Amino acid sequence: MQRDSFSSSAPAVRLDNVQLSLGSGAARVHILKGVSLHIGSGEAVGLVGPSGSGKSSLLMVLAGLERADSGTVEVAGEPLTGLGEDALARFRGRHVGIIFQAFHLIPTMTALENVAVPLELAGRADAFARAAAELTAVGLGHRLDHYPAQLSGGEQQRVAVARALAPEPAILVADEPTGNLDEETGRQIMELIFASRAARGTTLVIVTHDLGLARRCDRVVRLRSGHIEAEDAGAAPLPAGAVPA
Ligand SMILES: Nc1ncnc2c1ncn2[C@@H]1O[C@H](COP(=O)(O)OP(=O)(O)O)[C@@H](O)[C@H]1O
Ligand SMILES: [Mg+2]
Repeated sequence: MQRDSFSSSAPAVRLDNVQLSLGSGAARVHILKGVSLHIGSGEAVGLVGPSGSGKSSLLMVLAGLERADSGTVEVAGEPLTGLGEDALARFRGRHVGIIFQAFHLIPTMTALENVAVPLELAGRADAFARAAAELTAVGLGHRLDHYPAQLSGGEQQRVAVARALAPEPAILVADEPTGNLDEETGRQIMELIFASRAARGTTLVIVTHDLGLARRCDRVVRLRSGHIEAEDAGAAPLPAGAVPA
């Protein structure tokens, strides 16, 4: 199992004793119960665990999409604790790329327009040229003017990867990015994600049920009921019985 060699000691993510509850009234759920996790710059972490264990919620906290109730959240050198909505949005635009299982492209925009959105928000004058280059890099140079509904699932996820990577984020978070794809298409998406790490030193945090993908990471972090249960070296075989749900 190959490992890339971008890991260094500079922390990209520093979570200490993070608590998160969501929902209101009787529906309020205590989701993250004191999570501490440090991720080095350029490191690839696979996040695994049973359904409902808090994986997506943890990604949302470190991407600046949810605010922790308490604890320390520092990402790309910026403390997120106490930031308001606007400041969090600016933080995401500067530092974080996000890929979802269900692609989340804007259906009324072409592939090119979808990828150009974050570049325009970042004030890039070359947004469309840049978006075209990113789409070409993921093998979609011939699909620039197609709408999401005219693309296969694998092609839509390639657009989403191009959109996430175009602003050259320090950190890429991906929530089951291959979960809606067949095995071969999923493998190709995973290659694109890891190629960004090799080319740009992007820090990766990937939620996955795919053991092959998890093992390709430097480290596998396992969540259970809102706690970090175990951390393994990614390239080592997982112990028997440790297969995530
Ligand atoms: N917005 C929300 N309001 C209330 N409960 C939520 C919300 N989002 C997630 N949950 C609950 O938090 C727990 C963890 O969810 P999630 O982070 O999506 O887990 P995973 O990604 O590991 O499947 C689940 O019990 C889920 O139902
Ligand atoms: Mg989830």
